[in-house]
Amino acid sequence: MVNSSPVLATLPPDLDSDRLPKHVAAIMDGNGRWARRQGMPRVMGHRRGVDALKDLLRCCKDWGIPALTVYAFSTENWRRPSHEVDFLMTLFEQVLRREMAEMMAENIRIRFVGNLEALPRSLQAEIARSMAETQQNQDVEFTIATNYGGRQEIVQACRAIAHQVKAGKLDPDDIDENIFEQHLYTWGLSHPDLLIRTSGEMRISNFLLWQMAYAEIYVTNTTWPDFDREQFHQALLDYQQRERRFGKVGKVL
Ligand code: FPP
Repeated sequence: MVNSSPVLATLPPDLDSDRLPKHVAAIMDGNGRWARRQGMPRVMGHRRGVDALKDLLRCCKDWGIPALTVYAFSTENWRRPSHEVDFLMTLFEQVLRREMAEMMAENIRIRFVGNLEALPRSLQAEIARSMAETQQNQDVEFTIATNYGGRQEIVQACRAIAHQVKAGKLDPDDIDENIFEQHLYTWGLSHPDLLIRTSGEMRISNFLLWQMAYAEIYVTNTTWPDFDREQFHQALLDYQQRERRFGKVGKVL
C-alpha cells in the first residue's frame, strides 16, 4: 500500500475507540463520474479508486477496525461495455499480484465472495492464491465482493440447503437463521455495522442483502476516488451519533 497517509495516521480524538464499527462495508461508486470530471476515460476512475481503497484499508488497520468489505463488481456489472469489464478484470488481477507482499506485511486476510467461477481463469488463480496465502493473517479481514449479487447469494444458499434436505441430511424443521448463514459466501464473517456509499445514490444495489439487515447506512456525495481519511472520519462520527436499537425501544423512552 503506497499511500500511507501521514494525515490522520492515528484515530482522531473525537472518535470513541470503544464504539467503532467492527465491520465496515463500502459501495465504491462514482469512479466513472470522477474520471469524466477530470476529462479522463471512465476506466481511469477505477485506477484511482484502487488508491482510495488501499488508503481505506490501511486506515482500518491504523484505527483498529477489524473488517472491511467492498463491492468491486456486481452480477449486473457484466452489462457494461466489454472494454470496461476487461479493464476491471485485468485491474483486479494486477492489483492482487502487486499488493500481495504488502498484504502479508500488514497482516491482512483477503477473502473474495461471489460467483467466482464465472471470472477469467487467470483471475480465479490469483484469487485462490491470495486467499490461501493470507489465510492466517488477522489484523483486518478484507473481503472483496466480485461477481457478487445479494439475491443470487440467497438463491444459491437455498439451493444448497434444498440438496441437503433431498439427500436426507437435513430436516426442514431444523432450518433456522444459523443454518442459512452457513450457506452464504460470508459464513464466519460478522455482519457489517456500517455501510458507506459514495457518490450520492440512496440504494444498496443488491449488496449483502441478508447481512445488511441492521447496518447503519451512510451516503456521501463524494465520488469514490476522493473518499479519503477525513471523509472516513466524518462517516465514523456520524455512525457514533446513531443509536443502534436492533428492534428494541430507544434509551429516551
Ligand atoms: C463503481 O463506479 C465502481 C466499480 C464498478 C468498480 C470498483 C472497483 C475498484 C475501485 C477497484 C477495486 C480493486 C480491487 C483489487 C478490489 P462507477 O463506474 O459505477 O462510477 P459511475 O457511477 O460514476 O459511473
